[in-house]
Amino acid sequence: MKDIKVFAPASVSNVGPGFDIMGFAINEPGDEIVLRKRSDKNIVITKITGDNNLLPLDPALNTTSVAVAAVLKDCGIETGLNIEIRKKMGIGSGLGSSAASAVGGVYAVNELLELGLSKDELLKPAMTGEYAASKAMHADNVAPALYGGFILVRSYDPIDIIKLPVPGTLYCSILYPGIEIRTCDARRILPRSVKMKTAVSQAGNSASFVTALLTKDYKLMSRSIVDSLAEPFRSRLIPGYDEIREAALAVGAINCNITGSGPSMFALSRSKSKADEISKAMLKASSKFTKKNKSYVSGINKKGPRII
Ligand code: HSE
Repeated sequence: MKDIKVFAPASVSNVGPGFDIMGFAINEPGDEIVLRKRSDKNIVITKITGDNNLLPLDPALNTTSVAVAAVLKDCGIETGLNIEIRKKMGIGSGLGSSAASAVGGVYAVNELLELGLSKDELLKPAMTGEYAASKAMHADNVAPALYGGFILVRSYDPIDIIKLPVPGTLYCSILYPGIEIRTCDARRILPRSVKMKTAVSQAGNSASFVTALLTKDYKLMSRSIVDSLAEPFRSRLIPGYDEIREAALAVGAINCNITGSGPSMFALSRSKSKADEISKAMLKASSKFTKKNKSYVSGINKKGPRII
């Protein structure tokens, strides 16, 4: 094989109470990464499309190339590669854009060079790529994008990823308000420490959200999608946040919250038709605040990246 093209999915992280520890992958949107072998040993980013010229072409700074280089380093090999990145989601959208690009890179290089690495072995290099963009070693986008499905990060040191069951009928409506919020900025506005009462509430909701997934208890899921750590601070950055959330709940969303560090918002529901209805309601509510909004409706992606 001389070249390969890979799709890697967007993801919803935090999922309400799971700040830095929970996320799930969605079917669309997702980035495409094309790798081609070179005759020399250089890693070259030949082209990036769909990024409004926001992403670095310097391979030392770009999420995909940093992740690919981390795989090569782990394997002790030097192979030259041309990398083409086709962005299909907004940068700083809260949809795990950098994670999708990092995961696409590590998956593609593993397949192209037939390295035989497992997803567990690809996780750290993908997180290294994510770090290049967000300056934080969080895995709640990278892990779902890589493994698919719902993911719980039990521990970062050592890294311990738990795959959670995906209830069969869960759908996700995404509202992207068309503005950019950089993860590093959205992390900077969070308090360095929290009160014991806040920590207890977050732990309770995280545990009950996992229980809701395990027992397919959608009423419990609804009560559990509460975020006391980030939402109070980050929702202020999203124009019309309360109105959009209310609109989703009014037409029957299980619940609605910020995806990742925002500005996109996600709402869960149990059927495609309900998810479409919620998506329309969110889009309508957000149109009072912006004309650049966009919506997606997707089932949960259970596979992660794939060759296309
Ligand atoms: N857990 C991360 C955060 C996700 O909320 O900062 C970033 O998309």
